Amino acid sequence: MGLILKILIPLLGLLLAYYFYSAPEDFNEEMLRGKRVIVTGASTGIGEQMAYHLARMEAHLLLTARTEAKLQKVVKRCLELGAASARYVSGSMEDTKFPNVVVKEAENTWGGLDMLILNHIGYSYFNYFDGDVGHIRKILETNFLSYVAMTVSALPMLKESNGSIVVLSSMAGRIGSPFIAPYSSTKFALEGFFSSLRQEFIIEKVNVSITVCVLGYIDTENAMRAVSHVVRHKPAPKEECALEIIKSGALRQRELYYPRHTMGKMLLLHTIAPDFLDSLIRDNYKVENVKRP
Ligand SMILES: NC(=O)c1ccc[n+]([C@@H]2O[C@H](COP(=O)([O-])OP(=O)(O)OC[C@H]3O[C@@H](n4cnc5c(N)ncnc54)[C@H](OP(=O)(O)O)[C@@H]3O)[C@@H](O)[C@H]2O)c1
Ligand SMILES: *[C@@H]1O[C@H](CO)[C@@H](O)[C@H](O)[C@H]1NC(C)=O
Ligand SMILES: *[C@@H]1O[C@H](CO)[C@@H](O)[C@H](O)[C@H]1NC(C)=O
Repeated sequence: MGLILKILIPLLGLLLAYYFYSAPEDFNEEMLRGKRVIVTGASTGIGEQMAYHLARMEAHLLLTARTEAKLQKVVKRCLELGAASARYVSGSMEDTKFPNVVVKEAENTWGGLDMLILNHIGYSYFNYFDGDVGHIRKILETNFLSYVAMTVSALPMLKESNGSIVVLSSMAGRIGSPFIAPYSSTKFALEGFFSSLRQEFIIEKVNVSITVCVLGYIDTENAMRAVSHVVRHKPAPKEECALEIIKSGALRQRELYYPRHTMGKMLLLHTIAPDFLDSLIRDNYKVENVKRP
């Protein structure tokens, strides 16, 4: 087992990573110039960083989240960085009418849409599952159903432009980890919905790409506040993560794994030795720091 762990697994991981990440063509920042892009959850974290990258690439931006004051600041910065245009619409994705409001704003402003980046998440606790079914219903609305609703509203415009949908998932949408049962459920739901939809697009020759981004631990303020006292390993940088997401969307890749080596190794272990991987995941948590409420 020692030998397997030391040599074989990293080697296979690298091969797998190479297989997953070797891009079919090179990314060029001009691919985004003048493109009309919606970014949800853009007031902070990875969404905010994606907005700044897209601004530098001279895209048209429509940003959304709940906190108007933060969105105003992000829009201002985007304009300074060179965005072709930047505006926001604030509201909560808990409101079932809001996804359509955002898409209508894009339609009224631009009369079309090239890229839909679905990135927002609502607050969920990091702790043992507390039995609260109501919370799961609510978080499914914000993290999953609003993604479906935005896709439905935006699809006519995306079909017209041969556009792209980019969906932010997580390792928690592929592999179970403790203390995030509600969040993990919403990410698994996204993976199911969008991989099924991708198949139908291919069958029906709908030329709209779907890129699912499977992320590990990223150093956003909210993620660090929630888990840094429990998770042993270091988070990856949000700026680089945001850029990789934009590249994978522009290249119309089916998936992005970031950080790539860690994700590649985990998915490989998940396939060949799932119980062993589960124990590695548990070992990565300082369980004693998780207090039942
Ligand atoms: N950071 C990580 O370690 C990590 C790991 C794996 C996957 N991901 C995924 O990457 C994406 C971004 O993560 P992040 O860490 O950047 O998140 P974040 O910093 O917590 O940002 C979440 C965004 O969603 C908005 N939001 C929260 N509640 C909302 C609601 N009810 N309606 C509409 N918008 C709402 C927030 O703004 P307001 O509060 O102003 O509404 C904020 O802009 C998420 O899909 C996450 O699951 C992150
Ligand atoms: C979309 O792709 C089709 C081929 O699938 C092409 O005929 C059409 O011109 C493209 N439209 C745009 C707006 O790029
Ligand atoms: C789909 O759209 C993309 C982007 O416009 C284009 O590069 C590609 O050739 C199209 N594919 C097909 C099969 O039409």
